[in-house]
Amino acid sequence: MNSTPESSNLPTSPRGPSEPSDSGVGSSSAPLLSLRGVSKNFGPVQAIQDVNLDVPDGLVTALIGDNGAGKSVLIKTISGIWPPSEGTIYWKGEEVRDHTPRTAAHLGIATVYQDLALCDNLDIVQNMYLGREETKFGTLDEITMELATNQLLKDLSVSTVKSVRQLVASLSGGQRQAIAVARAVMRESRLVILDEPTAALGVSQTRQVLELIRTLSSRGIAVLVISHNLNDVFSVADRIAVMHLGRLVSNGPISDYDTNSAVELITTGQSSRVPTTLAPSS
Ligand SMILES: Nc1ncnc2c1ncn2[C@@H]1O[C@H](COP(=O)(O)OP(=O)(O)O)[C@@H](O)[C@H]1O
Ligand SMILES: [Mg+2]
Repeated sequence: MNSTPESSNLPTSPRGPSEPSDSGVGSSSAPLLSLRGVSKNFGPVQAIQDVNLDVPDGLVTALIGDNGAGKSVLIKTISGIWPPSEGTIYWKGEEVRDHTPRTAAHLGIATVYQDLALCDNLDIVQNMYLGREETKFGTLDEITMELATNQLLKDLSVSTVKSVRQLVASLSGGQRQAIAVARAVMRESRLVILDEPTAALGVSQTRQVLELIRTLSSRGIAVLVISHNLNDVFSVADRIAVMHLGRLVSNGPISDYDTNSAVELITTGQSSRVPTTLAPSS
């Protein structure tokens, strides 16, 4: 059903004293992104069902859940790749209609998928500007693009890349992730979505990516990050959203959860100690 965030029975305002300030930046008290009753099915397969999710501005929300729980379908729905079969997406409290990747980009939603979609045979600058190259007098403006790339990496505190003229093929997994994130945030991004950014990374590369996530957040960008690693989740996230069998079963400030309750929610969809969004009284 298409209830608005305001009329929903879900809390859209702070839940309690432990809730971080999540009422959004600016005059509007609506969350940056809200989903209400969002479902997506592929023929008979119900991939996500009746999802009610709030993603506040400027905070890191970790999206967790077992394989097949619907995490990737959910972010693809938010990114406009799969328009919802049912339900409504709100951006700053306003309904988003005819959602496509183009409208998502226009709103400031930037998504980094698991495959990163980088071109190995091109250098970092070329990857950053692929399909939207800067030109001057009809030729590529390499100097501007190179300077801007260096500046962006500096702004994002990506310090391990030796030269932006390096081929992407020569980068480590963590560096590749950083370049994919940098490319995603090059345009005005309000929400950056990352699908398992640390899945293939070693310890120090993982730490770099988590630092990058915190940097995005400190620059006022909301982050929605899928992760399997609860250590990562508890070190980087302000909020948690748990998917189980296609449903969003819990969504709240990180301080409401610990590893045990998170594992309980991931495996059973319920926890005796954490409010779940499915309980009729919640
Ligand atoms: N394009 C698709 N066509 C049919 N079923 C799909 C498609 N994408 C995902 N699914 C199904 O939707 C469910 C959720 O998948 P997914 O979101 O990829 O899970 P997760 O990312 O949490 O591991 C799974 O049952 C999966 O098989
Ligand atoms: Mg997935």
